[in-house]
Amino acid sequence: MSIIDEFCQSKIFIEGLSILRPKTLIILGSGLGDFAKFVKNPVIVSYSDIPFFVQKSIEGQSGELVIGLIGQHPVYIMKGRNHYYQGLTDEEMRYPIQMFKYLGVNNLIITNACGGMNPSFKPGDIMIIEDHINMMGRNPLIGDNVDIIGPRFSDMSEPYSLLWIEKIEEIAKSYEIHLKKGVYVGYFGPSYETRSEILAYRQLGGDVVGMSTVPEVIVASHAGMQVLGLSVITNMATGISMNKLSHDEVLKTSLEAMDKVSLLILKFIAFLE
Ligand code: HPA
Repeated sequence: MSIIDEFCQSKIFIEGLSILRPKTLIILGSGLGDFAKFVKNPVIVSYSDIPFFVQKSIEGQSGELVIGLIGQHPVYIMKGRNHYYQGLTDEEMRYPIQMFKYLGVNNLIITNACGGMNPSFKPGDIMIIEDHINMMGRNPLIGDNVDIIGPRFSDMSEPYSLLWIEKIEEIAKSYEIHLKKGVYVGYFGPSYETRSEILAYRQLGGDVVGMSTVPEVIVASHAGMQVLGLSVITNMATGISMNKLSHDEVLKTSLEAMDKVSLLILKFIAFLE
């Protein structure tokens, strides 16, 4: 079966669930899944029910697709996402984003929990992702190119829309939310980084580090989507603070930042209308 046949089967299943045809996909990172409560009359489906969709859930992420309206704007919401550290192949990593492109999605709002490396950041801060550094040693586009989605060699000069960065800064200012801005380093995981790795990534120009987002944004960029990336700094990275890192701490801080992140995304979506 060809990849297009697989997209078709996923599309028929998903489009059979709702009359809405969203052009916006929101991916919710660790501890941010509650944002889906803002969807009116949601249709909720487990990833495992969607043909060809890969599902491997982790704590704090439910593995569900939510379809519905936020205000007047139709959205797809991915509550939970896949990570390389779960043992997924490049093909499995690129499938959901390419499939959503096939369904007509052009806008991606992506969130994550991350560790702060920039010493001027603190847990609970929210950072607009301006750019990223891929330290995963993998690229989800490796393998056969899907020509109807994007070109073999894709430009990465503006993976995060400059216009959208300006817009979210404007929104944050009007609600007196202070946002940081910086570079996200994608780390393979699942262990957290060593002190020396963090020192190295800082030297390379990174401000925060996390285990997601980079693969999805590479695929979205290849597919010609506009991307807004928001990172919640849930802890200071190894060696920046002397605390030991734990996923419980990540989830706790992420939940605390939820209200601010939600407000930002809700107002941003209104701008997309
Ligand atoms: N490192 C990598 N991933 C993370 C971190 C971190 O410190 N915090 C939350 N996700």
